[in-house]
Amino acid sequence: MSIYFDEKSKIFYLESKNLTYAMGINRIGQLEHIYFGKRTGRDLCTGIYTQGGRSHAIYIIGDDEKRYDPTVIPQEISTPYGGDYYEPSLMLEFANGNRRSDLVFDSYEILKEKPALEGLPALRHGETLIVTLKAKTAKVVLYYTVSETASIIARSMKVINEGNDDIRVNRAYSFAFSLPNRDWKATFIAGGAGAEAHVKSTILDRGVFTLDSKRGNSSASVNPFMAVGREATTENEGEAYGINIIYSGSHAITAERTPMGLVRLTGGLSGFDFSWKLEPGEAFQTPEAVLAYSDEGYSGMSRQFHDIYRSALIPERFVKKSRPIVINNWEATRFKFTMEKLRSIVSTVAGTGIDTFVLDDGWFGKREDETSGLGDWFVNEQKMEGTLKDLIDFTHSKGMRFGLWFEPEMISRDSDLFRAHPDWAMQTPDEDALEARRQLMLDLTRVEVREYIADVINKIIRENEIDYVKWDCNRDLAEGYSLALPADRQKETFHRQILGLYDLFDRIVNANPDIIFEGCSSGGSRFDAGVLYYFPQIWTSDQTDAPARAKIQYGTSFCYPFSAMSCHITESPNRRAKHVTKLYARAALAHMGATGYELDTTKMTEEEIAEIPSQIAAYKADEDLVFNGDIYRLASPFGDSNYFAIQVVSPDKKKAKLTVMKMNEAFNEPEMRIFPKGLDEDTLYEVAELEMTMSGKSWMNFGLYPAMPSGDFETKVYRFIAK
Ligand code: DGJ
Repeated sequence: MSIYFDEKSKIFYLESKNLTYAMGINRIGQLEHIYFGKRTGRDLCTGIYTQGGRSHAIYIIGDDEKRYDPTVIPQEISTPYGGDYYEPSLMLEFANGNRRSDLVFDSYEILKEKPALEGLPALRHGETLIVTLKAKTAKVVLYYTVSETASIIARSMKVINEGNDDIRVNRAYSFAFSLPNRDWKATFIAGGAGAEAHVKSTILDRGVFTLDSKRGNSSASVNPFMAVGREATTENEGEAYGINIIYSGSHAITAERTPMGLVRLTGGLSGFDFSWKLEPGEAFQTPEAVLAYSDEGYSGMSRQFHDIYRSALIPERFVKKSRPIVINNWEATRFKFTMEKLRSIVSTVAGTGIDTFVLDDGWFGKREDETSGLGDWFVNEQKMEGTLKDLIDFTHSKGMRFGLWFEPEMISRDSDLFRAHPDWAMQTPDEDALEARRQLMLDLTRVEVREYIADVINKIIRENEIDYVKWDCNRDLAEGYSLALPADRQKETFHRQILGLYDLFDRIVNANPDIIFEGCSSGGSRFDAGVLYYFPQIWTSDQTDAPARAKIQYGTSFCYPFSAMSCHITESPNRRAKHVTKLYARAALAHMGATGYELDTTKMTEEEIAEIPSQIAAYKADEDLVFNGDIYRLASPFGDSNYFAIQVVSPDKKKAKLTVMKMNEAFNEPEMRIFPKGLDEDTLYEVAELEMTMSGKSWMNFGLYPAMPSGDFETKVYRFIAK
């Protein structure tokens, strides 16, 4: 049993793989956070936090027996105005203006099957503990899910109004826990479109450190992920906690060092300008947070996320399935294509192993550039010089499947849809609607908008043989106003938009279970676990320059598995970076995810085209290993080593693959030795690329020299095969 309640001590134990998470009902009925970390015995105690004693503490219960100091005691969910001075997880406002809501334990229940989170993506299974607390007329239900295969806990909260008056929920985070007074450091992935998932870190000293997005999008600026480790924690050694919110909208994760030195972590759906009106009998469900623990460094933490996302988040039907190898026309043609050009891109690579042609932006409405057409999901047969069916038939005749691009959440001012329904665009009354990439966003809080968009897109999908859809989203929300909501619900707009998005995913993605959907948002601006609940893969970045991608994919792997990263081989010199890279180097990076090609194939040399079949054969041979293996990051492109090195080891340890890139040529640089991890000590592994066979323990302790030729961005792949 992995969820256990000790009646005597009143402590709940949640045990997932190698971790224990414990909380207890204390003397005054509050739910105290006790412990989160490496597996302990079921013999912990409550009350440890009061032992230090504090002066000027607030004692909310006068009785000495029940003395309780809220300034010191970590809460499972913290609320303001009851003596807990730190970042609250839950802020309620009752009809009389009372905003104090001390939570008191009411009951608990253990469920073998996890209940679904209504309207929100979440882990699909796992034994679940439900703890009910009460604060005046509000019932607060905490959900905790455990896993046998990964050291993670999933948490969410539901607030129910049991009174006769409205309650305002002014903040509703998904989790809170506190770490002891030690040297903690936060590590996170942040950047921008084209520079997604750059790894950054900061020491957690006194004060509040918040990672958030206020963009209505999980965003490339700050991913909804935070790792917290000791200052000495490295990629493969030391304690590391991970937090990820399964949510695609504005979010926040906060770390606060209290005067006692504890670090309280809390977060979830952003509380920025948020207020949700809860009428009597209504419930508000928060998104789910996934909390991971490892004592094997940040790579160990990543393995927990990868494991649980593959086994309980990403649609099951795609997890083990081989992915299409696409040729996408975007980088080759942008909006300017002809039927002849598209056909020649397809013909050039027919028979190479590339199996799906994806037609990107520009095939619909009056879409010649960014300024028009979004929302008019009708084939522009004039521009296409034929029907969509003509192109699909041609693609099929070349032995390939067909994929199509959509941007369902958007509307162009210059579109028939906008002319017919100007109020369907998000806008603030008496203000100019804010355009980004020359487009407006549809108001997905309105069901009629969702119904319309789902109908037109499903019609195209139904009437054509489409095997793959790329779902793009090229702007953030910006405006926090919906013409469809009353004034006292405007602060619900951002969250309602995301609930609408998930409903739209449901109407389109779940209605077409045989089609593979790829998420995209100006590259990786919405690379999050909410999207992965519906889509098995996401376009990782519009930056496709191999060394830049090395950084982006390295950072993305902190939380998300390789099977989720869509990675294409593009042209050299790179369109933006102008870096010249060898085709095999670009392929090595693009093979660390769901691979594809995105370049003008008609401009490739005969030798390059001839190289494609062997590249694809190599990719296919490693696909299962890369998608389902255990990650070990061995050298960071953000560090001083000048190298990128990531190894993946198959779960049975019979195979491993190590990809190494030298970021820049350096004259007379110090020795670079890479120490593989995760191999079986006593198994002999042959590495054909080095013509060497050694035991796992020799490879791991002696290491290997990548022996790179001179030149920037040189890349090598080493395969370890058990003999
Ligand atoms: C942004 C995406 O990231 C690109 O791959 C491409 O699909 C364009 N949008 C199309 O407008």
